[in-house]
Formats: sequence, structure tokens, C-alpha cells
Amino acid sequence: MAIADSIVVLTGAGISAESGIATFRGPGGLWEGHRVEDVCTPEALARDPLLVHRFYDARRAALAGVEPNAAHRALARLDAEWPGELLIVTQNVDDLHERAGARRLLHMHGELLSALCASCGARRAWRDDLPPGTACVDCGAPALRPDIVFFGEMPYDMDRIDAALARADIFVSIGTSGAVYPAAGFVQTARWHGAQTLEINLEPSGGSHLFDESRMGAAGKLVPAWVDDMLASISP
Ligand code: OAD
Repeated sequence: MAIADSIVVLTGAGISAESGIATFRGPGGLWEGHRVEDVCTPEALARDPLLVHRFYDARRAALAGVEPNAAHRALARLDAEWPGELLIVTQNVDDLHERAGARRLLHMHGELLSALCASCGARRAWRDDLPPGTACVDCGAPALRPDIVFFGEMPYDMDRIDAALARADIFVSIGTSGAVYPAAGFVQTARWHGAQTLEINLEPSGGSHLFDESRMGAAGKLVPAWVDDMLASISP
């Protein structure tokens, strides 16, 4: 393996499951007691802003009670030590990758610890509750909302992600069901550009057949092992 190999890692809710954050499509298909469509669409926000804001307030507050796990820490180690290009693209809105120390990281579906102004588009770090009608610090409009990419909205940083996928030698998908596009299509893009593709997930996902290799099991065990192998491959 060449030292300059370029890696793209995609993570989903499964990587934070062992930290105690519920996945989206777990038993019963509910996310913390709600259907995803009731709290994660522009229509839901327009229909019942209080419900949606409170839902994300609760998720934001819950971050204080969780810690990064071995999988987050392993990816942070890869970030620190991998000499080639690396981009960790997470669909997760928690901050566990950065708390573990990852820096080469994008949150394509937004962040709990950020507020978005629906009027001027400004994004601001946000740690407290966010009641509907909160004024934007930048433009003054009472239009701050959770900085979450809802269904039907464009994920963040797609240009950067597409460029990284086009250059990737290795694409790894960790803890995602492959149910939500465009992230579910990254494996095909990466393959088309010639990357080796690996899936690490508790169970076969909808797109397992698209990967060159699938490793089934807990991310907290399999990700550190994969990172160890990657870093061993470049040690002199
Ligand atoms: P899902 O809940 O759809 O899938 C989580 C995947 O993680 C499942 O395939 C599980 O089998 C797997 N899993 C669970 N525990 C695991 C563990 N310990 N180790 C490894 N894998 C494990 O979550 P996502 O695929 O992330 O969008 O969902 C994608 C998007 O759908 C989310 O980003 C969210 C949601 O609607 C937005 O909020 C915009």
C-alpha cells in the first residue's frame, strides 16, 4: 500500500451506538420515541416548531451524558497519524468525533451544537436550548432553528465530499444502514473512481453487496482493528 493513499470514511449512527446514542432505524423504527418524519422534515418544523425544537434541545442536552467510544478514538488516531489524505464524513449530528480528537471531519447532516438562521443562512455555535423565534445574532430575524439537514434539504459540503470520493483509494463505511441518500451512494461513487471499499456494520446493510469487503460486528471492536492494520501498513 502506498504511503499517500487517500481515505474517505463515512460514519453513521452505528458508530455512536456504543456511546449510548440511539440509532435511527432501531427496534420499532422510532428515534427516541418519534417517527423520523415527525421531527426531521421542513414540514414538521413548519407544522409544530415547538415539538421539533424541543426534540433537538433534548438531543443537544443529552450530549453532556455521553462519551466517545473506542471507534471514535481509533478514527481520531488515524486522523492524527495517517500521512495521506483523509476525510471523515459523518452523518451524525453529535460531537463525539471531534471530542475524540478528529479534525479532518465534515458533518454532512448538520450539528446539534450549531444553530442555523432560516432567514440569512448564518450558522453559529450553539450549546443551550433553542426556543422557536430566537433572534439571529447576525441579521436579527427571529429565525434560528436547529442546524440539522432535514429530509429534502441539501446536505452540507457535497462539493468537498465528491472531490474527496473522486480521489479516494480507500472508502470505508461504518455504522450506517445505507438507507439515506446521497450518503448511501458514496460507495458507488468511490468504486467508480477506483477505490477499494469496506463496510463495517453490526449487520449487513441494504448496500452490503456494493462493497468489496464487509466486516460484521461492533464498531468499537472492528474499527480499532482496522485502524491498527492501516497504521501498521505504513510503519517502516
Ligand atoms: P441508521 O439507524 O439507519 O443505521 C445505523 C446502522 O448502524 C444499522 O445498520 C445498525 O445495524 C448499525 N449499528 C448499530 N449498532 C452498531 C455498532 N455498535 N457497531 C456497528 N454498527 C452498528 O443510521 P444512519 O445510517 O446513520 O439523517 O442514518 C442515516 C440518516 O438517517 C441519519 O443521518 C439521519 C437519519 O434520518 C438526518 O438526520 C438528516
